[in-house]
Amino acid sequence: MTPRTLAYLRALDIDVWMRRDRSPTTDAPFSDEETTKVEPSRPPTIELEESAPRLEPSSSDVSTLSWDELEARVRNCTLCPLHATRTQAVFGVGNRQAAWMVIGEAPGADEDRQGEPFVGRAGQLLNAMLKAIGFRREQVFIANILKSRPPNNRDPRPEEARACLPYLFRQIELVDPKLILCVGRIAAQTLLQTDTPIGKLRGRVHRIAGGRPMVVTYHPAYLLRSPGEKRKAWSDLMLAVRTYESLLGDAVP
Ligand code: URA
Repeated sequence: MTPRTLAYLRALDIDVWMRRDRSPTTDAPFSDEETTKVEPSRPPTIELEESAPRLEPSSSDVSTLSWDELEARVRNCTLCPLHATRTQAVFGVGNRQAAWMVIGEAPGADEDRQGEPFVGRAGQLLNAMLKAIGFRREQVFIANILKSRPPNNRDPRPEEARACLPYLFRQIELVDPKLILCVGRIAAQTLLQTDTPIGKLRGRVHRIAGGRPMVVTYHPAYLLRSPGEKRKAWSDLMLAVRTYESLLGDAVP
């Protein structure tokens, strides 16, 4: 483990165990294999898995919209009853040409108030997770399945997700990310159209929205409640990094 990785793991509040007779840089909390996977020099060996059923990329009236048109459409959307209870729609934030896109579930109270996804405590942990793999928040594009807050943070209803998904798929088309990081059970099950538990959706590379690779990990809000699972999230992030690097490798002639 490099000192940098060690620092990041500590920033994420992941316990790093050290044998008394060794320095932390040689005594990783994970197996050697897991830590060396992040080294860019390692040959990529990612198998993409064709697991996602095809979702309609975006409904026809949305699929040609520009960023500005799409944002205006989302801000004024009344397609589902959530528009009546939201403070404002939460469109998404970040680099509109990002290589990575992060997809969560729905705005919470903080996001509804501020109009930006992942700004509460979960958002701070998401920022730390991104930092752990070398990204500043502004470098990725962050969006949710739902653009409006469900009251009392209840789970999105299927009809709400159906109404809102075309916006997300248009965002995916416009950003055209190399990799999608999907955080949380609801987002993963919605995008993959499955009720498979998240534990079984992690650890592999799915394809959605025209074959784009997607890695699933735990929602930062869940990780705040279950910090012991951060190690698994770390290995998901490593899978995402390796997948991304392997795609970059493919692009080199
Ligand atoms: N949880 C989410 O899934 N998205 C947000 O924007 C905030 C919390």
